[in-house]
Amino acid sequence: MKILVLGSGAREHAIVKGLIRTGTPAANIIVAPGNAGIAQEVHCAALNANDPIAVTAYAVEHAIELAIIGPEAPLVAGVSDALRAADIAVFGPSQKAAQLEGSKSFAKEVMAAADIPTGMAHECRTLEEVEAALDDFGAPYVVKADGLAAGKGVIVTSDREAAMAHARKFIDMGILVEEFLDGQEVSLFFLADGLTVMPLTPAQDFKRAYNDDKGPNTGGMGAYSPLPWLPAGFVDEVQRTVAQPTIDEMNRLGEPFVGLLYCGLILTARGIRVIEFNARFGDPETQVVLRRLITPLALLLRAAATGNLETAPDPIFTDEAAITVVLASEGYPDSAAPNRPIHGLHHALAVEGVEICHAATVALPDGTIEATGGRVLSVVAVGKDFTHARKHAYQAIEHIKLEGSHYRTDIAKKVAN
Ligand code: AMP
Ligand code: GLY
Repeated sequence: MKILVLGSGAREHAIVKGLIRTGTPAANIIVAPGNAGIAQEVHCAALNANDPIAVTAYAVEHAIELAIIGPEAPLVAGVSDALRAADIAVFGPSQKAAQLEGSKSFAKEVMAAADIPTGMAHECRTLEEVEAALDDFGAPYVVKADGLAAGKGVIVTSDREAAMAHARKFIDMGILVEEFLDGQEVSLFFLADGLTVMPLTPAQDFKRAYNDDKGPNTGGMGAYSPLPWLPAGFVDEVQRTVAQPTIDEMNRLGEPFVGLLYCGLILTARGIRVIEFNARFGDPETQVVLRRLITPLALLLRAAATGNLETAPDPIFTDEAAITVVLASEGYPDSAAPNRPIHGLHHALAVEGVEICHAATVALPDGTIEATGGRVLSVVAVGKDFTHARKHAYQAIEHIKLEGSHYRTDIAKKVAN
């Protein structure tokens, strides 16, 4: 099967590694546009992943049998619709179904209609409405931009002025003020074929920039899987009360959801609550989830893309502990850093159980790998338990030299001995 993966992040590198690890020959995979690390494993095509016409023409010309869409931007740009119109199997929802991620108010409407447990929220169009909503819920305040904001659309703060400043910044998109939900966060991915869902394995993401959940929200600074502290029956409950009802409601609306339904959850004292849906694999959770997958990934994604999940095998995961630690450039997430060389990658890769998923990297003609800023790469490690997995990941990341870079040292700390 010839596969085209769209995107250029560590998530897409993890998808490529997952495909290869579970049996897809590297020669059958093309990534557009990819990055320096992905290009070391498979062919990368210099293609604008957000251009529906260019992507479809390329896929037709190269007889692609499955397109896997990594990030949200191509979904929002209608790339999956264009590919489907050309009869190519796509793992990724239509532009309209991707609204589950793109519009928080749409997601709330779907949840309300399907009786899915989520936080109470007020939709606000004016700053006066925001003020009233903040009064209603009280501190800590949760203020969300009602649109795609590259992971920077949400603020959780007890500082009223900071909450209002955030609202002012995003008021043109619309604002959602939500009740504060207290508890552990869980990311749970479901494959969806339009009618049914199939769960992958839970992971936890570390959203804040610095240790002890300090600092601003980011795209994610690390993750681990499995989550040994989850109550029994958790995955079944999320499938029954969240994922399947969401897919059913999308069908009722005439917008069947095919692709990855990412359920962002908080396990509160009163039960499971949805804090967000995404319409794609999460980054960096994918790095740990797919690292543990044994079942052929291409088979699962193709079954979802072609409406055949019922006939696919249940995914099996190793019981190893997997962790990923993100190396970010100086100033991330507040400011951009200039391109800088990365050293020590070979030493890092020599550590037991370690893989590196590249994100913001380019290769220079002399072979030097340069970081282009942002989340630069993810170090992924497995071990027989989290103590070992952490030891491997942190040993590896200490070998990597990038001026000004930073990473969290507390990923999966609470589940290690
Ligand atoms: P989101 O982009 O909606 O996932 O929000 C980003 C982060 O903000 C989440 O990962 C949570 O850590 C936090 N967050 C979002 N909504 C809430 C909420 N209602 N209560 C507490 N924290 C939240
Ligand atoms: N790690 C969070 C996300 O992918 O949105």
